[in-house]
Amino acid sequence: MLDFTYSIPTKIHFGKDALDFVGEEVKKYSSKVLLTYGGGSIKKNGVYDKVVKELKESGVEIFELSGIEPNPRIDSVRKGVKIIKENNIGAILAVGGGSTIDASKFMAAGALADFDPWEFISKGKPMSPAIPLLSVLTMAATGSEMDNGGVITNPETKEKLSSGHPDTKPKVSFLNPEITYTVSKYQTACGSSDILSHIFENYFNQYGSMYMLDRMMESLMKTVIKYGPIAMKDPNNYEARANLMWASSWAINGFISSSSKSQWTVHPIEHELSAFYDITHGLGLAILTPRWMEYVLNETTAHKFYDLGVNVFDIDKDLDQIEVAKKTIEKVKEFFFDTLGLDSNLKEIGIDDKYFDQMSKKACGKKEKIDGFIELSPADVRKIYEMCLED
Ligand code: NZQ
Ligand code: ZN
Repeated sequence: MLDFTYSIPTKIHFGKDALDFVGEEVKKYSSKVLLTYGGGSIKKNGVYDKVVKELKESGVEIFELSGIEPNPRIDSVRKGVKIIKENNIGAILAVGGGSTIDASKFMAAGALADFDPWEFISKGKPMSPAIPLLSVLTMAATGSEMDNGGVITNPETKEKLSSGHPDTKPKVSFLNPEITYTVSKYQTACGSSDILSHIFENYFNQYGSMYMLDRMMESLMKTVIKYGPIAMKDPNNYEARANLMWASSWAINGFISSSSKSQWTVHPIEHELSAFYDITHGLGLAILTPRWMEYVLNETTAHKFYDLGVNVFDIDKDLDQIEVAKKTIEKVKEFFFDTLGLDSNLKEIGIDDKYFDQMSKKACGKKEKIDGFIELSPADVRKIYEMCLED
C-alpha cells in the first residue's frame, strides 16, 4: 500500500435540476464563455436550449464551437483556442461526452499558451496554466467530468495520446441523468464497458491495494453490471442512468486509484485501435479486456481474479483459485458480448493484423513496456491483439 495525496476539487451539481445552476456558476468565472459541443445531439434533446437560456439569463456572452468529433482531433482544439484568443474569452463550458470535455481541456490550456496545442503531447509541455473549464455531462463513460486528463487524436500521425493537469480539471460539472436518456443502446453499452475498464485498471495492480478501496471498487463494478443492461432496455430509467452517471465519475476521479500506482494497461493498448481505426473506445476495451485477462492469468495473479469472481460475479468461493479465475473471465466475456451485445472480436469490426507491430510498439511508448499489473513488452501486446482475432 502506498502513500497518496487526495484532491478532488470539482464541484458537482447532480440531479434533475442540475442545469439550473449553469448560468450562475459560469458567471463566477467569466462573463464570456466558449460553449463547446459535438455533432448535435444536444440540439435534438433540448440540452442546448436549456444551457443557452441559463447562460443568457445570467448575462453571459456566448461563443460557440460545435462539431467536436468522437475521438476528438487536435484540429478542433486549434479552432477552439483561436476563438478564445480572438475574443478574450475567460471560461469554457463543455456540453457533451468525454470527447467534447477532453478537447475542451486542451483548449483551456491552449488558451494561455503561445505554442501549438499538439505540443502538449509531442513535446510533453505541461497543460498549465489553463482557463477555467466547466462541463455539462451528456453521457456516462469516461469520467472526464471529474478528472484532469484528456485524450486527443492527431490523424496525420495516427496518434491518440493523453495528457492532463489538475488545472484542466473541471471547476464545476453538471450531472443530470435525464440528459442521458437519449444516449443510444450502443453508446450506453460502450460507456458501461469504459467505466468497468477504469475500475479494472485500478483493481488489477501489482503493488497491493487497500481492502477498503478494493471493496469500493467491487461495489462500483456491481453497479455497472446491474444498471448498464437496465439502461439499455429501458433508456428512461432514472435510477439506472443516475447510478451509471455517478459511477462513471467515481471510477476515475482519483478516489479508487489512491493506493494504486500501476500503469494502466488495456487503455494504452485500446488507444492504438482507436488511433488507427477510429473505433469507439468502449468497444475496443470490451474486445481487449478478456484477452488481456487470459494473457496475464497465472498462479501469482489468480488471487485477484478470484476476488473479482467471488465478490462481483458470485462464483462459488470454495472452488479452486484458478478455476474461479477462469470462470471469472468467462463472466466478463458474457457481460461484454452477450449482455451488452458488443462485437466480440476484431475481425467482426474489420480489423486485421496489418498494423499490429506498429500499434504494439506505440502502445508501449518510450519506455518500450507497459508497467501494469503484469509488465508487458511490445511482443506481449502483439500477442494480445492476435488473441482478439480469435473467437
Ligand atoms: O457528438 P454528439 O452529437 O453529441 O453525439 C455523441 C457521440 O456521437 C453521442 N452522445 C453523447 N451524449 C449523448 C449522445 N447522443 C445522444 N444523447 C446524448 N445525451 O455519443 C457519441 C460518443 O460521444 P463521446 O463523447 O465520443 O463518448 P465518450 O464519452 O465515450 O468519450 C470518448 C472519448 O473519451 C476518451 C476516449 O478515448 C474517447 O476519445 N477518454 C477520456 C478519458 C478521460 N478524459 O479521462 C478516459 C477514457 O478512458 C477515455 O480514453
Ligand atoms: Zn476509458
